[in-house]
Amino acid sequence: MKNETKKENDLMEKIVSLCKRRGFVFQGSEIYGGLGGTFDWGHFGLALKNNIKQSWWKKFVDSRRDMYGVDAAILMRQEVWQASGHVAGFADPMVECEKCKKRFRADQIEDKKKCADCGGKLSEARQFNMMFQTKVGASDDSSAVSYLRPETAQGMFVNFKNTVDAFHPKLPFGMAQIGKAFRNEITPRDFLFRQREFEQMEIEYFVRPADWEKYFEYWKGEMLSWMEEVGLDMSKVHELEIAKEDRAHYSSRTVDFEFDYSFGKKELFGLAYRTDFDLKNHGLEYIDEEEKIKMIPHVIEPTFGVDRAVLALLLSAYTEDEKGDEPRSYLKFKPNIAPVICAVSPLLKNKPELVEYANTKVFAPLKAEFGRVAWDDNGNIGKRYRRQDEIGTPWCIVVDFDTLNDDTVTVRDRDTGEQARIKVVDLQNYIKGKI
Ligand code: GAP
Repeated sequence: MKNETKKENDLMEKIVSLCKRRGFVFQGSEIYGGLGGTFDWGHFGLALKNNIKQSWWKKFVDSRRDMYGVDAAILMRQEVWQASGHVAGFADPMVECEKCKKRFRADQIEDKKKCADCGGKLSEARQFNMMFQTKVGASDDSSAVSYLRPETAQGMFVNFKNTVDAFHPKLPFGMAQIGKAFRNEITPRDFLFRQREFEQMEIEYFVRPADWEKYFEYWKGEMLSWMEEVGLDMSKVHELEIAKEDRAHYSSRTVDFEFDYSFGKKELFGLAYRTDFDLKNHGLEYIDEEEKIKMIPHVIEPTFGVDRAVLALLLSAYTEDEKGDEPRSYLKFKPNIAPVICAVSPLLKNKPELVEYANTKVFAPLKAEFGRVAWDDNGNIGKRYRRQDEIGTPWCIVVDFDTLNDDTVTVRDRDTGEQARIKVVDLQNYIKGKI
């Protein structure tokens, strides 16, 4: 058991180290000692995150007829958060050590009486509101108070009327948004898992009240199918019915999709039945032309955390094996998610004829077609393969002396290490076929 835990901790350490070393994710404000619960994204991490968001948008918005996108302002009037119940109820229980003043989330510590750090006495738990408060404009009075949004959902509810007036959608229909959310977590932890600034991909799906159970089941299936499409290890995904006392204040039913992270089985995404809670509190309604009545639709909310998706994908994709004579580690990403689709290399970088050919006849056209194409001429070929394996590049293409005679290149597969000789004119179709 101890060995298992050590292995899991080692895995997390390896992933955090890979993310920094290979330019995926860095600690926020790192050169000033770091700011807890914030991370900055490097070139490859950003590419991975963008691919995840694109895949989500394509499936849930672009390929559907009943979905309307929104990109709402992060700052909203305080009345939004009063109506949504977040000012009154978006809080976690917090205890403080009377000796060292360190604060903990009361529901996440084993000993509720004694400080785990210094042994001091812990205070009684009190509710700590997790919204970041700020002031809008130069005025300092209470009417200037605003909050950084703790969920993207409200940006959709406050645009419900605008969307209905502009597009006249018939029930059922949905609104979708991808964007930042902010929570002043008491104890941010576990790398990307619990942050203070993160991204969400959310859908508010509006249905007739009698239909909610049907659409709840439908969205459960859609969520699972996207998780599979994007390449999550589905043997590590589990559904959990959330008990009434543990549900958010707006939810009458919640199913969490949990993931076996290396630090335990914890929430990845969620599906909630928000009833008419939000539209009613914002005083919004809908004219159902089919039923010829004014009514308040009910809401099914599939919600996805982008950062948790990245973390679960990293944990799903990380693989170690022995290829050739040395051990290697690689990220077994699906090609549509991988930060780089293929890397192009001249066999030797001091041979101008190879470099010229690789650059103009291979790299440039692939780059124009796929965008996420890397040029790699550093070190020997073995080192280049290892480097590309580590960031999860599915194919490495090498231009060698034979290329100059027969216009073929070597395409090496990341997972099997197998190499195929492909005509340069067929490269784009070869890769498209594999994707
Ligand atoms: N609108 C509903 C809502 O916000 P939530 O379960 O509180 O529900 C939705 O958050 C998703 O956002 C979670 O399933 C998770 O993926 C992600 N998430 C929540 N808090 C997070 C945090 N502190 N750091 C990173 N991701 C977080």
